Amino acid sequence: MSAKQPLRALISNCALPANEARILLAHVLEKHYQLPRSALLSHDDMTLNDLASTQWEALIDRRVNGEPIAYILGKKGFHNIELLVAPGVLIPRPETELLVDIALAEITKLNTPTKILDLGTGSGAIALAIASETPLAHVIATDQSSEALAIAKQNSESLNLSHQVKFAQGSWYKAIGQQNQFDVIISNPPYIANLDPHLAQGDLRFEPLSALTDYASGLSCLEIIISEANQHLKSGGLIAVEHGFDQSESVMQLLQAADLVDIQVHLDLAGLCRVVSGRKRL
Ligand SMILES: C[S@@+](CC[C@H](N)C(=O)[O-])C[C@H]1O[C@@H](n2cnc3c(N)ncnc32)[C@H](O)[C@@H]1O
Repeated sequence: MSAKQPLRALISNCALPANEARILLAHVLEKHYQLPRSALLSHDDMTLNDLASTQWEALIDRRVNGEPIAYILGKKGFHNIELLVAPGVLIPRPETELLVDIALAEITKLNTPTKILDLGTGSGAIALAIASETPLAHVIATDQSSEALAIAKQNSESLNLSHQVKFAQGSWYKAIGQQNQFDVIISNPPYIANLDPHLAQGDLRFEPLSALTDYASGLSCLEIIISEANQHLKSGGLIAVEHGFDQSESVMQLLQAADLVDIQVHLDLAGLCRVVSGRKRL
């Protein structure tokens, strides 16, 4: 049986790429033997007991069937925090960390308690990453999905951030009071067009469709969030939204049409236009 092979052979003989096999094997070692990831090297001649072998094989099968690693492990690192994730929420992406950095730069600039709105919070990734970095951040995080909000609240509690991050359910600005005005509005809304073939491919097949697509052109959620931003921003307040790699021009036009100023495009680490920001006039 393959599972009676030493760890190093389990990795080299695995049907998965070696980096994925290492992640899953480290998970098994942690769960069954309380060993750190470094045991993959320091104990590379060890064999797994029957229970651990069965779990290792089950995890490999799930990944071979296409399930994302983050759902298999039930967790995902994002910015400086670790989040619980499950099939009810989008798996936070590295490119979304750009929104966190933009919000943190604004808080540093204001250097005062800052009211932030995170629209479509999913696992709570953006809201919680911001709040974990500075006590000046006071965030309202919204989502339409009760499943997502339940996971986001769990993350908030386990990160001890419940005093800084409050949650509200509803469609975009309907989740918050009309009078509520913010220094910063941040959002990573669904922006994949409904006919995009990627929705039926790879890891995306396992994520909630309502987190990925607006079931239209890809721009309809961005349009609502941007066109109503002025009503919910303080004077000079900042809005920053993530979008698809080819939507930058259209999103800039939406900001212009909404009479937002100081419009800027922000690149992700791969050099792609990923975020557009703008401000309410002073
Ligand atoms: C792309 S995911 C982003 C999740 C999280 N902010 C992140 O970056 O990992 C979009 C989120 O918007 C939520 N959403 C979709 N339609 C919505 C609506 N009409 N009102 C509020 N949230 C919505 C989805 O449930 C999902 O959690």
